[in-house]
Amino acid sequence: MKENDLYSLVHTGNEGDIEFYVRACEGVESVLELGCGSGRMGCSISRVAKNYLGIDINWERARLATDRGIVCYCADMVGFQLNRRFDRIIMPCNTMYCLLSEDKLISCLENIRQHLAKNGELVFDVFVAYHQRMASHISKSRRDNGWVKEIHYKNKVWDVYESVEILSGSGRLDVHYSHRCRSNDEKIETKIPQRYFSHSELPQLLGKAGLIMTSITGGFRNELVSDACERIVVRASLSR
Ligand SMILES: C[S@@+](CC[C@H](N)C(=O)[O-])C[C@H]1O[C@@H](n2cnc3c(N)ncnc32)[C@H](O)[C@@H]1O
Repeated sequence: MKENDLYSLVHTGNEGDIEFYVRACEGVESVLELGCGSGRMGCSISRVAKNYLGIDINWERARLATDRGIVCYCADMVGFQLNRRFDRIIMPCNTMYCLLSEDKLISCLENIRQHLAKNGELVFDVFVAYHQRMASHISKSRRDNGWVKEIHYKNKVWDVYESVEILSGSGRLDVHYSHRCRSNDEKIETKIPQRYFSHSELPQLLGKAGLIMTSITGGFRNELVSDACERIVVRASLSR
């Protein structure tokens, strides 16, 4: 098994996200997923939308997605040009935080605007960075190298620990994963660099790219946005 298999074992999405995106895409003509990974979401969306296309910058993940039978290209979501428009453009599971500067984020959003059909919708979700939430609502274990899950990898059982390192002033954070084998001393460390934004910045960021936020909730079941919510789920469309 390779690094991307390990990634797929750890990053299995969030409760209710597949059902939410399936509902958001059900019956539409065309869906584009930016940062589709190895096709976790794409497999379900392909069943409910007439045309699904995923793109991912990581060619191995794109190949894994293709092996699972979904249509996927290896491309950068900042600069892709497909010369067609989509009814839904989706970015599940923090993918927007993979854009590490505001310039890249705006370029990606402008690209989304160019690929969105007239009545189309951009739909995405991102976690709320820990320090933006009220400290009392954050369990200590999540802040301090907390155990996340157990996985079966290379025929062994591994414990996965996650910690978040906030890089001050830049909106940047690194999410560190430590994978520790239970039966020997083997340890695999990985890091996912991210750049977060707060929900109050979103209308302006989307506006710079000619998009308008049409809804924001604090989860996949229409929860209200509050200081305590761990995730925001956003819909946007073309500004009129
Ligand atoms: C957190 S994963 C989400 C995967 C998938 N959407 C899901 O819900 O399971 C983010 C994905 O975005 C991809 N990615 C990061 N930067 C990208 C970029 N600039 N262009 C395209 N894909 C990118 C990563 O390779 C990764 O597979």
